[in-house]
Amino acid sequence: MNATNIKIGLFGFGTVGQGIYRVLERSANAHAQICRICVRDINKPRDVDAPRDIFTTNADDILNDPEVNLIVEVIDKAEPAFEIASKALSKGIPVVTGNKAMLAQHLPELIELQRKHNVALLYDASSCGSIPVIRNLEEYYDNDLLLEVKGILNGSSNYILSRVFDHGESYDSALRHAQELGFAESDPSFDIEGFDALFKLVIITVHALGVYVKPDDVFTYGIANIHDADIQYAREKRVKIKLVAQVVKLDQDKFTMFVMPEFVTKSKYIYSVDDEYNGVVIRGECYDRQFMFGKGAGSLPTASSILSDIMARRHDYRYEYKKMNYLSRPSYTTDVTLKVYVRFSATNILHVINFERVYEQYISDNNNYVIADVKLSELIAKRERLNAPDLFFANIPQFYIDRD
Ligand code: HSE
Repeated sequence: MNATNIKIGLFGFGTVGQGIYRVLERSANAHAQICRICVRDINKPRDVDAPRDIFTTNADDILNDPEVNLIVEVIDKAEPAFEIASKALSKGIPVVTGNKAMLAQHLPELIELQRKHNVALLYDASSCGSIPVIRNLEEYYDNDLLLEVKGILNGSSNYILSRVFDHGESYDSALRHAQELGFAESDPSFDIEGFDALFKLVIITVHALGVYVKPDDVFTYGIANIHDADIQYAREKRVKIKLVAQVVKLDQDKFTMFVMPEFVTKSKYIYSVDDEYNGVVIRGECYDRQFMFGKGAGSLPTASSILSDIMARRHDYRYEYKKMNYLSRPSYTTDVTLKVYVRFSATNILHVINFERVYEQYISDNNNYVIADVKLSELIAKRERLNAPDLFFANIPQFYIDRD
């Protein structure tokens, strides 16, 4: 790419697309200009005034424009985004994207397209907004010492939990605010049911351990069913409930991963990660723990990460996926025991789940709870039944040395 002349074809002009427009206005050193913008509806009212003649509703106007030498894709649907990215990469046009759903579902094909057409796809904005998680995992942690990446990867659910825990706001009102502030997905069930965090975890795992795991194979449980009784329980135990995504090496050959609400004690870094902020703890042999913290959602924070990828293209940067070619890579297992809190009422969870060991049971007129050990594979096998609205699960971390 001509280092002084980046001509961007932008797909999507919503919260993030408009943020990119604003961020580029402040960044003379990017030497980058948005030439064309593809949207579904040109006449939709928007906060940012871009020249009307650069808008189109036809993707091919951009993909066939010989002037465009970088595609930036920030639409909110996975399949149309995959079509755009595949076409661009097949034509040898590099792509910058923030589309975690597309990446999590199609990374193997997208990696193959990059290799086949010798072209770059960059996506640091897809995971944790403004925090440079992907590039650091790809470049700095390129060794066998890495043991775990764990954190708060979804800004909206963290915002909701913070508002409910610390400000006594109702769940519904906090969710509405997360939507108004531009943190939530257009379908917020992705945020509160844990799928947004799952998609980010799948992408992170590719760059952390060099292994792609299909989203469907990962246990994912969100905060949608949290109830006053759970908040009350957590307060009594002096812990916070956070939605935590984690990929953890169990030994040199095996790792596990899952997304679940977790009881977080005050001594943990992520205890103080509130509102729409994200926090990622990276644990490894020799260096113990490192912590990355920053805004994980919102227009300008996400756009700042897209800008960083645009700038990286000025130096022809691309991911090499080195870890995917290592001779030995750990393999994914769900044969691991978790200690969980389960609150239940109508559904007798003890008849649904085969717990390995029950530590505590509390039965009352309204809510019951149990603290017990359960295999992750058992949670996956029963996952359809665990979405019953009268159930809430939280992980009680315990299966590795817990010192942060
Ligand atoms: N809905 C996402 C979140 C946006 O709340 O984290 C950033 O990926």
